[in-house]
This record gives sequence, structure tokens and C-alpha cells, in this order.
Amino acid sequence: NIPPGPKPLPVVGNFGSLLVPPFILRLFVQKAEEYEKKRTSPLSPQVGLTQLSKIYGNIYSLFVGSQLVVVLNGYELIRDALSNHPEAFSDRPDIPLVTILTKRKGIVFAPYGPIWRKQRKFCHTTLRNFGLGKLSLEPCIHEGFAMVKAELLKQNKEAGGQGVDLTPFISNAVSNVISSISLGQRFHHQDKEFCTQLNHMSHGLEISMNSAAMLINIFPWLYYVPFGVFKQLRQVERDITAFLKKIIARHRATLDPENPRDLIDMYLVEMLSQQKTGGSEEGGFTEDYLFFIIGDLFIAGTDTTTNSILWMVLYMCLHPDVQEKVQREIDAVLGRGRLPSLTDKGTLPYTEATIMEVQRMAVVVPLAIPHMASKTTEFQGYTIPKGTIIIPNLWSVHRDPSVWENPDDFNPSRFLDEQGQLLRKEYFIPFGIGRRVCMGEQLAKMEIFLMFTSLMQAFTFRLPKEHPPLSMHGRFGLTLAPCRFRVCVTPR
Ligand code: HEM
Repeated sequence: NIPPGPKPLPVVGNFGSLLVPPFILRLFVQKAEEYEKKRTSPLSPQVGLTQLSKIYGNIYSLFVGSQLVVVLNGYELIRDALSNHPEAFSDRPDIPLVTILTKRKGIVFAPYGPIWRKQRKFCHTTLRNFGLGKLSLEPCIHEGFAMVKAELLKQNKEAGGQGVDLTPFISNAVSNVISSISLGQRFHHQDKEFCTQLNHMSHGLEISMNSAAMLINIFPWLYYVPFGVFKQLRQVERDITAFLKKIIARHRATLDPENPRDLIDMYLVEMLSQQKTGGSEEGGFTEDYLFFIIGDLFIAGTDTTTNSILWMVLYMCLHPDVQEKVQREIDAVLGRGRLPSLTDKGTLPYTEATIMEVQRMAVVVPLAIPHMASKTTEFQGYTIPKGTIIIPNLWSVHRDPSVWENPDDFNPSRFLDEQGQLLRKEYFIPFGIGRRVCMGEQLAKMEIFLMFTSLMQAFTFRLPKEHPPLSMHGRFGLTLAPCRFRVCVTPR
């Protein structure tokens, strides 16, 4: 009695017919621009999966090959599964390519259990101590913003009305936050080694999500093929490993347990203290594990935040009236001279409502990260067998007309009450819900608040006069990125 769903084809299941992976599309569509166009709107998985719920109901099944996948749509159902049945639905599936790359260590893809719990608790506390202590995050973001400001104005001038691609600026500022917290160092945006590693990381992710390397999930031996994307993937993996291992070794050599400088130091101190009591291996506290945690923080914490900020700028370009209102509020509370601070949170309700409305419309992690049923469970009148992959469709929650009025309209005021104060909505869950809820939620909210208010205080953004049509469904990948766009910047 599994949930209903479209009829699967023999062998491939619903893989070919419904879930056309972008790399298959690429085989047929040669021209890059055409490919970009086709892989947006009609093929966006989050839209397709939400449409299927209109036919089969909020809970339905699909098959990827012979693997059963259950898709959950709408807030009530997702909350029921992830908050009311945490012991059944908080595991992560064993996806061959992910397992090869992560060894199921770190946090994001670690199996649900005591090791994951200890590692997550440690990282959460450390992020709070370093990143969320007001003193360390603010200067880090202010410093990053000073670089963005100077370079952006320079490039904008050089572009002569054609506009600038903001991605490298925002991405560098965001990566530097994670880098300061975890590696204890900031990198200049022109730092060759750091930029190369960041490029490696996004290249590796692009290969894993959008290339024939995905076939490794069906034939794991392909990972060892000595040419093409398979070879590239292994090279990227080797380079990132060498870079991070070098940094960890440097930390080990200069460690002062009384004065930990960053997350690596805190981890090494914890590791040493656990070694003394013999609990290090058991709790997963090893240098090997540390390596995967750092990788997780970069992967989970950079693209997500960068794309959220890019979506915000894009929405401001498309809704200049909202942009002006945000700027008026910032001018009234902060003026033009004082940089935004975390203590300003709570005094800028329209700005915060705008941030939330962009997050609602864009949902940068639209299908969360796949969960897995760790035991056979009766749920909503169906049987969910052990090993079923569970997809919480967060996009469906944020476009649900039964909880959001005109959900496709961009309207920040929906997050404000009649007095203009911020309204908290239970069914606003861009960071997920339950035991696997985003570990960086607080950090991301603070980064976004500081960066968005700084950008709005300093600049007005608009699209260049001639720009290609933009699909607002974005580009589906590990996160949902806006389609590439350029902006013209006017200093305020
Ligand atoms: C997991 C969203 C930023 C670290 C997740 C999940 C979502 C999410 C939806 C999956 C929840 C689930 O599986 O049910 C976001 C959004 C962000 C953001 C929208 C920015 C706007 C960050 C940052 C960090 C981070 C800055 C860390 C520095 C993590 C980790 C997990 C995670 C470690 C895995 C948690 C686990 O499996 O226990 N995030 N995230 N995220 N996120 Fe974020």
C-alpha cells in the first residue's frame, strides 16, 4: 500500500519520462544558450513535482529505476513526516556518487545516528561562538562589503551601461565568511589559490549534478574511467583534498589549545580531549572527519547564501517600487553613513519582509536534501518501506495557494501586520524543518540581513536597457540559482 503515482516504465522507472536530468538534455541540445533556456521553466523539477501533486495528491510515489521515491508536498504533510516522525524519516539515502565523494562522513550526508548528532552539535555550537558572536561576523562582512563596493563601482564604469555580473563579488564575500569561521583566514577576491579552490568546488558540483558523471549512480565503476568528466571529477576531488589537508596540517602544527582561532582549532582541541578519554573514534572526532565537515560547510554555506542574495538583487531590479521603499526605511533608521549592524535587526521590518518574500518566491533549496526512511513506517494511511527516498518539496509549501494569497505575486507586505510589524509565518520554511533542519540557518539569516541592507544602503540596482528575457524559475542544480543576469549600479 505505497502512495499512488504515475506508472513507471520498465527498468528506468519514471526517470526518463518525468525526471529528465539536465545532462541527458545536454546530449540532445547542442547550443549552450538553447540548453540554458530549455533547462529552465518547463523542466524545472520543483515545478513538475508540484504539478504532479495536483493529480496524485500531496503524497505520491515515483520510481528512479527500481528505487522507490516518495514526494511530500505542502506544509502539513512535510511537518507531519519530519517533525512528528523524526526517528523514521531523518536518515539520508546512500546515493553512490555522493557516498564515493563524502564517504558518508561530515554532516549533510551522514547517516542519522549518534555520530551525526555529536558532530552536528559540535559544529552548531562552534558556529554560534565564532560566527554568531556579534563581534566576529560583523567586521568580516563589513570588510567583504568594502571590497565589493570599490570593485563593483570600477567594473560598472568599465561596462559602460552593459551591466555587471554580481556573482563573483557576492560569492567571494560569502565564501570569506565561512572561510574566516572555519579556516581562520580571509582571502582576497584575486587570491589565485583560493579562487581556484572555489572554482574547483563549483566545477565539481556542476559535474556531479549536471553531467554524465551522474551515471556513476547507476554504474559506480564509472568513477574510475580514465577520461572525460570522470577523470575531471577525480582531479577536482584530489585538488580540494590537498588544499584542505594542507590547511589542517598547518593548524595542527601551530595549535594553541588555550587560544583556538577557528573551527579547525576547536575541532582539534575536542579531538585531543576525546582521545584522552578514548571516545574520539567512537564520536567520529578524527582529522578525516574534520576534513569532510569543512567541505560540508563550504558546499552547504556558500551557494545557498550567494544565490539568495543574487535573487534579492534581481527582484529589486524587477520591482523598483519595493527597492525604493526598502531604501527609504534604511535611510530613516540608519542614514547613509552608519554601516548596518546586527542590532538593527528588528528595526527594519519592511526590509526584513522583503528578504523573506524573496526567500519564499525563490526557495533556493527547493527539494531540501533527500531524506530516507530508516524503518518501515505507516504514514498518512500508506506504508513507507525502509530505504524509501523521501523528497520534501519545499517549493510546493511556498507556492501553496491554500496558505499564501496569490502565491505567484511578489508582495513583501504579506509578511507585515496592519501596524507594519513583521509577521512570523509557521509555513515559511526555506531552511527545512525537523531534526535535519539547516544547521546554518541563524548564520545565513545574519549574513543575508547584513549584506542585503549594505547593498541597498549603498546602491540602486537596475537591469541594463537591453537584457535577454529572464525565466524566474531559475537554474536547477544543487541550489536554485537565478538565470544569469547583469546589473547597472548607481551609487546613492
Ligand atoms: C541543510 C537551506 C545556508 C549548513 C539545509 C537544508 C535546507 C537548507 C533546506 C536541508 C534540510 C533537510 O534536509 O530537510 C539553506 C538555505 C540557506 C542555507 C536556504 C541560505 C539562505 C546554510 C549555511 C550553512 C548551512 C550558511 C553553514 C554554514 C547546512 C548543513 C545542512 C543544511 C550542514 C545539513 C544538516 C543535516 O543534515 O543535519 N540547508 N541553508 N546552510 N545546511 Fe543549509
